[in-house]
Parts: sequence; C-alpha cells; structure tokens
Amino acid sequence: QATSIPADRVPDMEKRKLLNLLLVGALSLPSGFMLVPYATFFAPPGSGGDGGGTPAKDALGNDVVAAEWLKTHGPGDRTLTQGLKGDPTYLVVENDKTLATYGINAVCTHLGCVVPWNTAENKFLCPCHGSQYNAQGRVVRGPAPLSLALAHADIDDGGKVIFVPWVETDFRTGEAPWWS
Ligand code: FES
Repeated sequence: QATSIPADRVPDMEKRKLLNLLLVGALSLPSGFMLVPYATFFAPPGSGGDGGGTPAKDALGNDVVAAEWLKTHGPGDRTLTQGLKGDPTYLVVENDKTLATYGINAVCTHLGCVVPWNTAENKFLCPCHGSQYNAQGRVVRGPAPLSLALAHADIDDGGKVIFVPWVETDFRTGEAPWWS
C-alpha cells in the first residue's frame, strides 16, 4: 500500500509532473516517427481503396504519365520506375510503341540485387552472380531460382501508369505467381 512507502521516497507533485513530461516526450517522439510508415503502409498513396494500386514514379519521384513516357522511351525500352512497395520495377515499351500491360520487378530472385537491362544481349543480366532473365523477366540462367516478379501496369483515367499486384498465372511460365 502507498501508505507504507516512506515519505522521502515518494516524489512530490512537481517531480512527478517533470517525470511525466520527460516520459511523454521520450515516448511520443519515436512513436510520432513510426506513424508515418504505418500510415503509408495501411493507406498507400493513390490506392483510393481500389485494390492496392500505386502510381509508377520516375527517377525524379514524379508520377509516370503514359503518353509523356512514350515520347521519350522508344520500342523495346526497359526503364526503371518505382513500383509496388517501392520496388524498382521496369516499365516496358512494346515494339508497337505502346506500354506493356505488365511491369517487371527488378529485384533478382537469387539474393536481391537490382538487375540491369542489357540492350545488346536483350536480357536482364544480374551483376552479382550472373543470373540471366529474358526480355520478359523469365529466368534463363541461375543461380536465380525464379523469374522476376510481375505487376500489372494499368493506365488510369488521367493517363497515369498504375501498378497493381499481379495475382494471376504467370504468363511466362504458366505457373502460379510465386510472389503473391
Ligand atoms: Fe542476382 Fe545473385 S543476386 S545472381
């Protein structure tokens, strides 16, 4: 019981207030920072509650507008954008100068290096341990065990490119997507 604590061990009111202030300060600062990633995790910008789509962002962090993109990216082009969960994701320009309806996640399925596109070889070549992927991101040489992940690359009413999680069959392998 409180009555059994010696009076000189009980902090007086001012000390308590000070301690409370310090405690609140110490707790609220980090939790305030943590709110930011949590908030963005639960409500991805641009999702609009329509199933987890997220706008593709260019190297400057701007939303990718398909028509503008196609002015500066020709047939066969594969250029990195920021995709779902912030993953580097290639936008693909088809030979008929349209955007492919899929994006290719650039994270190597071996140990996670970002895999560059090699125009001369028409493949994605991983610099870390030599894995190779064809132009659609299908693995053609190990040690990578799996093809690069896909995302849908849709175009919204405003012409922006929106990545949407790919949960259907992987059209390159005919198998269920390993990443969803
Ligand atoms: Fe790409 Fe190892 S991380 S081959």
